[in-house]
Amino acid sequence: MSTVLVTGGAGYIGSHTCVELLGAGYDVVVIDNFANSSPKALEAVEALSGRKVTFLEGDVSDRPTLERLFSRHDFGAVIHFAAFKAVAESMSEPLRYYANNVGSVLNLLEVMQQTGCCNLVFSSSCTVYGNAQVVPIDETAPLEAVNPYGRSKLVSEEIMRDLCAADPRFKVVLLRYFNPVGAHPSGELGEDPRGIPDNLMPYLMQVAVGRRDKLSVFGGDYPTRDGTAIRDYIHVVDLALGHVAALGVLDELEPGCQPFNLGTGTGSTVLELVQAAQRVIGRPIPLEIVGRRDGDSVAVWADPSRANAVLRWRATRNLHDMCRDHWNWQSKHPYGFVDGPPRT
Ligand code: UD1
Repeated sequence: MSTVLVTGGAGYIGSHTCVELLGAGYDVVVIDNFANSSPKALEAVEALSGRKVTFLEGDVSDRPTLERLFSRHDFGAVIHFAAFKAVAESMSEPLRYYANNVGSVLNLLEVMQQTGCCNLVFSSSCTVYGNAQVVPIDETAPLEAVNPYGRSKLVSEEIMRDLCAADPRFKVVLLRYFNPVGAHPSGELGEDPRGIPDNLMPYLMQVAVGRRDKLSVFGGDYPTRDGTAIRDYIHVVDLALGHVAALGVLDELEPGCQPFNLGTGTGSTVLELVQAAQRVIGRPIPLEIVGRRDGDSVAVWADPSRANAVLRWRATRNLHDMCRDHWNWQSKHPYGFVDGPPRT
C-alpha cells in the first residue's frame, strides 16, 4: 500500500481520516502547523489505530519545508486539508485567508508537479455552491462564493481545474463536504474548536457540558417544517471514509478534476438536531430562538448520488449516531484536548 501525505492531519476531519487510512493499510505522513489543532489529536490517532504516523510540524505554504518532505517520501497521493475555515474571520481578515488557503494550494501543487506526485484529494466544501436555489444540490449546480472563505475554496478548485487541463498527469478529486459533525465512536477523538464555536453542533455540545449558558437558534421564521434552517449533517467518520473511498478509486478515474458531494442526502432542521442531541444527552438544552444570521441559507442538502456511484461510498450514520458520538467525546473531554482551564 502506498504512502499518503495528509496536510492538516491533526485537525478535526484530517485526524479522523488518518484513523481510517491507517485502518485501511495506508502509511500516513502528516504535516500540520497546529494553527487550529492539537498534537494530542495525533496521539489519539496512533492509539486508536495501533499504528505510527510520521509527523512534521510545519506550514504547507513554506516551500523549503514541503520540498524537504517530498524529497524524503515517495507519496502515492496527497490529501489536502490544511486551511483556515472560519467564515466570519475570513470576512475581517480576507488577505490572511487567501494567503493561507490559496497560497498553500499553489505551493503544494507546484511541488507535486515538480516531483511527479499527481494524485490529489482536496478538502472542499458545499460553500462553493453559495446560496443554492435548488435542493438537493448536485455537482452541476452553479458555483458561487459568498464570503472570502468560500472564495478561497472556489479559487482553489479553479486552480486545480486549470492545472488538470494543462498537465494530463494530474488526477484531482474535489470533495465538497456538507456539515461535518460527530466524533470517533471511542470518544477519544473529536472536534476541539478554539474560542467561541461558530457552528451549531460544537456550540450545542458546549452548552450541554455547561461551558455556555444557552444555544441561540438563528431564525425561527424560515419557510421550513418547524421554522428553522435545514442542513445536511454528516458524521465525520462517514466523511473520513469518503476520503479512503476516493483514494481507492483513483486508479480507475480518468485524469482531470472531478467534484463529489459528500453528504447524506437528508436535510435536518436546527430543532431536529437539537432534539436528537437532547435524546442522547438525556436532558433539555437551554435555547432561545433569535434573529436569522446574516448570510445563512434556508435549506441546504446534498444529492450524493455521484459519490455513491463513482466512489462506491455512502454515508451510513444517522443523526442519532452523530449526536451520540459527539456527546461521548464532549462529555469525556469537556475542554477538548485541553485539560483546563477553559478556553473562552
Ligand atoms: C458553516 C459555513 C460554511 C462552512 C460550514 C462548515 C457560514 C455561513 N457557513 O455552514 O461555509 O463550510 O460551516 O461546517 O458560516 N446555528 C444556530 N446557532 C448557532 C450556530 C448555528 O442556530 O449557534 C444554525 C445556523 O443558522 C444554520 C445551522 O445552525 O442554520 C448550521 O450552522 P453551522 O453549523 O454554522 O453551519 P453552516 O452555516 O451551514
